[in-house]
Amino acid sequence: MLTVKDLYASYGAINALHGISLEVNEGELVALLGTNGAGKSTTLKSICGVLRPQGGSVEFLGEDLIGKKPEAILKKGISLVPEGREIFTSLSVAENLRIGAFSCYERDRYRYDLEEMFALFPILEERLQQPGGLLSGGEQQMLAIARALMSHPKLLMLDEPSLGLSPTMVDQIFDLIATLRDRGTTILLVEQNAERALRVADRAYVLKTGSMEFSGTPAELESELDIASVYFGGTKDGSGEVTV
Ligand SMILES: Nc1ncnc2c1ncn2[C@@H]1O[C@H](COP(=O)(O)OP(=O)(O)O)[C@@H](O)[C@H]1O
Ligand SMILES: [Mg+2]
Repeated sequence: MLTVKDLYASYGAINALHGISLEVNEGELVALLGTNGAGKSTTLKSICGVLRPQGGSVEFLGEDLIGKKPEAILKKGISLVPEGREIFTSLSVAENLRIGAFSCYERDRYRYDLEEMFALFPILEERLQQPGGLLSGGEQQMLAIARALMSHPKLLMLDEPSLGLSPTMVDQIFDLIATLRDRGTTILLVEQNAERALRVADRAYVLKTGSMEFSGTPAELESELDIASVYFGGTKDGSGEVTV
């Protein structure tokens, strides 16, 4: 569905990506892991057109995305939940959701989608008229995900959805990601929480300072003890889980 080949990206003199490649197939949940500054967000920004890569190709459903505007890429079916949520804090929950639906606005469909979001995120129905800024961090993350889903993405990209959340909220967010995966949503998940991400992912990639260091199944990654300890700065404990 998504094929990234030999992608180069930089911010002025800073080279953030040095020719990375990755693939996401339809229905897969692919985790993109790596420590802070590895280039995970840059990869997502390059895919969704926020950042123009210096080289390489991004192909989605057989079409080249390089040079296309973010709105055009959203319409083609790629929706990004950015790092730090970026919801509209002064707008209500309802208004945030309506903005998410703008690319496919039909009144009946919108109502139906809203009902579906309330089923997935009951808290949003309770808070519908409240400004987004009054929600807790976890609720804002749910709103950001719901807003992205309102555009019916074929590929949902999540940038560090669990960052800064309480352990209970992290559990809820990962449960939700698993639910979306089980419903057949294709997901590219960027996480620093490698252990949790590997529990829900079909396949994983590990980025290190702008280069792809590993790709394979979670089992393959976890069996590469040295890789885990080197790239996540953690160790493998007795339970067989990678601790970050
Ligand atoms: N807006 C920016 N301006 C300059 N350098 C940036 C900018 N955003 C990211 N970088 C740099 O690019 C590299 C990759 O960053 P990023 O993709 O945000 O990493 P990650 O999401 O894995 O933490 C880092 O060295 C970071 O400092
Ligand atoms: Mg990032």
